[in-house]
Amino acid sequence: MLHGDATDRFVGTLAEHPRQAAPSSGGHRLVPWCWFGYDFGIYLSTNLPAAESHMQPPSIHQLIRTRRTIKPAQMDARPIDRDQIQTLLEDANWAPTHGLTEPWRFTVFLGDARKRLAQMLAQTYREITPPGEFKQNKFDSFAVNPTLAPLVIAIGMKRQPSKKISEIDEIAAVACAVQNIHLSATALGLGGFWSSNPAACSDAMRNFVGLGEEDRVLGLFYVGYPATDWPAGTRQPIADKVRWETE
Ligand SMILES: Cc1cc2nc3c(=O)[nH]c(=O)nc-3n(C[C@H](O)[C@H](O)[C@H](O)COP(=O)(O)O)c2cc1C
Repeated sequence: MLHGDATDRFVGTLAEHPRQAAPSSGGHRLVPWCWFGYDFGIYLSTNLPAAESHMQPPSIHQLIRTRRTIKPAQMDARPIDRDQIQTLLEDANWAPTHGLTEPWRFTVFLGDARKRLAQMLAQTYREITPPGEFKQNKFDSFAVNPTLAPLVIAIGMKRQPSKKISEIDEIAAVACAVQNIHLSATALGLGGFWSSNPAACSDAMRNFVGLGEEDRVLGLFYVGYPATDWPAGTRQPIADKVRWETE
């Protein structure tokens, strides 16, 4: 569970649910939100009995803020139900798409297919890395990483033949689809990791997943249950990134 500074920092980003707030009037209390056994360090305002309120489904805001990158080495081996995988993919399919091109193409790796992916990833890393930059520990982690997550999805972008819609718009649409997967995974108690190293985005990977020369692979997305506590996130204040113009 999240404790101490990490929790306080995280909850501090949720000003509307202050950790130390006293019970409010009208029967509403602040209770820790637990979901799939994880304490996300979020406090909900609720008027439900304590036992039920812990199980309330998260709001969209809570999902967005608790979505976390969890790397394969931090995932446990528990398999993900096939219908849950289908849910992740269906949610991806509802991403916004300029011109309704729906450019996302996913290749789903499960079971032993992950071993073939791991071999291919490591071999590609060796092939595209200049000898002076080759690192054995990187090769070794590429050779094992896809087998540490129960589900790996290659993220593809299929270019429309006319190329009427710009490549940047197509890539943005695929990124929205990946975010849908990651948020949907969060709702199921799953972590995700978008890995975009050069081998994962290489021409060799594009060929491996059967895409064409005009298409791109934008990396691999790993999904799995966290083997550790749900991690805390950090962000700099939004105020530093927004300029307001009001007149
Ligand atoms: C397009 C994209 C590519 C990414 N590629 C990598 C990567 O190759 N290696 C990595 O460690 N993290 C990668 N990340 C994940 C970030 O490290 C992660 O989002 C960041 O640490 C913030 O953590 P959070 O996702 O838990 O908020 C990528 C994220 C995005 C959006």
